Amino acid sequence: MTNPEHERWVVEADGVAADYSGLIALADVDLRLPAARLTAIIGPNGAGKSTLLKLLTGMKKPLRGSLRVCGMDIHTARRANAVAYVPQETDIDWDYPISVRDVVLTGRYGRSRQSGGWRAWLPPRFIGASHHDKAHAAMAAVQVDDLADRPIGALSGGQKKRVFMARSIAQEADLMLLDEPLAGVDRRSERIIIDYLKEFVRCGKSVLMVTHDLPTVRDCADWVVLVNRAIAGVGDPEEMLAAEALEKGYHRIEHRGER
Ligand SMILES: Nc1ncnc2c1ncn2[C@@H]1O[C@H](COP(=O)(O)OP(=O)(O)OP(=O)(O)O)[C@@H](O)[C@H]1O
Ligand SMILES: [Mg+2]
Repeated sequence: MTNPEHERWVVEADGVAADYSGLIALADVDLRLPAARLTAIIGPNGAGKSTLLKLLTGMKKPLRGSLRVCGMDIHTARRANAVAYVPQETDIDWDYPISVRDVVLTGRYGRSRQSGGWRAWLPPRFIGASHHDKAHAAMAAVQVDDLADRPIGALSGGQKKRVFMARSIAQEADLMLLDEPLAGVDRRSERIIIDYLKEFVRCGKSVLMVTHDLPTVRDCADWVVLVNRAIAGVGDPEEMLAAEALEKGYHRIEHRGER
């Protein structure tokens, strides 16, 4: 894809591979994704979609290759709070009573540390009024503000998803990575999340969203990446969701066992 001068890349990957104990999960990732788009990441189970997002957060180190997000290396992007992440697994068994408000306030931690001061090292609820206001606005954006005082462990799966989304919104990142944010949420919540993401992109920010919901991809994605142990295709939804591209992308799993 050509890159007109005004266009920014939000992801730049060259020769990236990732493994788990020597078993290759993703290989040959050469990818350029334009900023200010809602990009959907699709592909079959076990294709490496979550692994790709974990590489972009810095939670997982690539086996080889180089990666940049928002024009920065991963370490710098992390320190700049440029990347927010909603993980796929929100079914963590919370056995201690942290409230929804405190979970969302953790999204402000990086920002409060950036602005310095002793408050940054206190528990979330002491980090200062401006951070509380941002957290409240984030909860309101995905309509979980009425759950603020509830313990996170007492929420349903779909409610938890929206709380993690609020934490990510509170972070005010330039790039949001969302791993199946629509799985298990009802139609109304799905609409709220999609509308928020569209507005986020309209403001010049970028979204990478893993999903299995192809009709939603058709409706709202600007750009699509098809992953199947490697990058099986990149293009606009019309091109990538054509039967032929899907057939090719979903069925050609190459089993790479070695480094
Ligand atoms: N922590 C781990 N340890 C070992 N292998 C892993 C680990 N996480 C993922 N894998 C393996 O890496 C491959 C890619 O997994 P990944 O979670 O990235 O797939 P995915 O595309 O997100 O799948 P799904 O649609 O089911 O969420 C799979 O074969 C998986 O078994
Ligand atoms: Mg996954």
